[in-house]
Amino acid sequence: SAAEKGGYDYFMLKEIAEQPDAVAATLLGRLGRDGTLTLDETRLDSRVFAEIDKIVVVACGSAYHAGLIAKYAIEHWAGLPCEVELASEFRYRDPILDRQSLVIAISQSGETLDTLMAVQHAREMGARVLAICNTLGATIPRESDAVLYTRAGPEIGVAATKTFLTQLVAVFLVALYLAQSRGTKYGDEVAAVVRELALMPGKVAAVLDTMDPVRAIARELADASTVLFLGRHVGYPVALEGALKLKELAYMHAEGFAAGELKHGPIALIEKGLPVVVVMPPYVGRSVLHDKLLANLQEIRARGAFTIVVAEEGDEAVVPYADRLVPIPAVPTLLQPLVAIVPLQVFACELAVARGNDVDRPRNLAKSVTVE
Ligand code: G6P
Repeated sequence: SAAEKGGYDYFMLKEIAEQPDAVAATLLGRLGRDGTLTLDETRLDSRVFAEIDKIVVVACGSAYHAGLIAKYAIEHWAGLPCEVELASEFRYRDPILDRQSLVIAISQSGETLDTLMAVQHAREMGARVLAICNTLGATIPRESDAVLYTRAGPEIGVAATKTFLTQLVAVFLVALYLAQSRGTKYGDEVAAVVRELALMPGKVAAVLDTMDPVRAIARELADASTVLFLGRHVGYPVALEGALKLKELAYMHAEGFAAGELKHGPIALIEKGLPVVVVMPPYVGRSVLHDKLLANLQEIRARGAFTIVVAEEGDEAVVPYADRLVPIPAVPTLLQPLVAIVPLQVFACELAVARGNDVDRPRNLAKSVTVE
């Protein structure tokens, strides 16, 4: 009913709007004022964190994209090798795991069968398993050694939105906790990022306040047949997630690419008028990656692409090459997915609605897939 949807036309719109609260709830009680973290409720013995020598993330769909972002955060802050694998592939090869491996299973529902099977396989091999889950007492957390709950509240819309943001928060918490408990060469950065995390609900809210132009772009592109997404570093999984949202909701061909791969194939797809969403890395402190992505943006623009550029506020360098510009707040590089994905969710949702689709119940999809 309309009341359940809190005045929104779709649960998905309500859930997108709830993201600042969902992020705040997932951080609650876990950030210390002194820049330290508390993850006491995970049930994971702190000795496990000291003993492990590698991490393997398993997940499906949007949760897999959260896992890809976890890899960047864990390897950078905690200095631990981290692999990420689609849960459905994991047990059909010969994954190398032992007692020193920590498997992180990310699942909103905690019931996805592919992920559950991967968890069971990992435990049979002696690995310890930490679940990141949004559903209290679900099967995956029950079958894991430990659980870190996201606190997005129930998500009704089939396509993940607020649960995805809280999965990102959870993987950042784990990465930062690993860094703090095991030691890190980035101690000052880790402490600073812990403080920045506390600001993220406000930054996500600020993005949501500026979405009217994004909705206008979506309506403008309602008849497009393909949209490409480009990103690099943590912007690459953001590009994949932006494309997945568009497939799920708008039933449209959409693909995300690592921008560095453009020259190895995808650039052949660029033709006049093709919409390409480019997720720019932070401009403040202007990284090498920013220059590289800017070069990609120039290349595709020169070939006639219609560019929609998601870039940090004040990023003047992109302006001449952006047919449409979507500014997002400045945040630390690894946290950028928390603000960069929001416009892409809004874009996919609005575009799908413009095409007459039911965004809460997209065709052929289930909220939680309990078959293999
Ligand atoms: C289904 C949903 C996706 C979701 C995936 C994983 O395919 O349609 O939105 O990302 O399952 O779900 P989980 O509950 O394991 O996070």
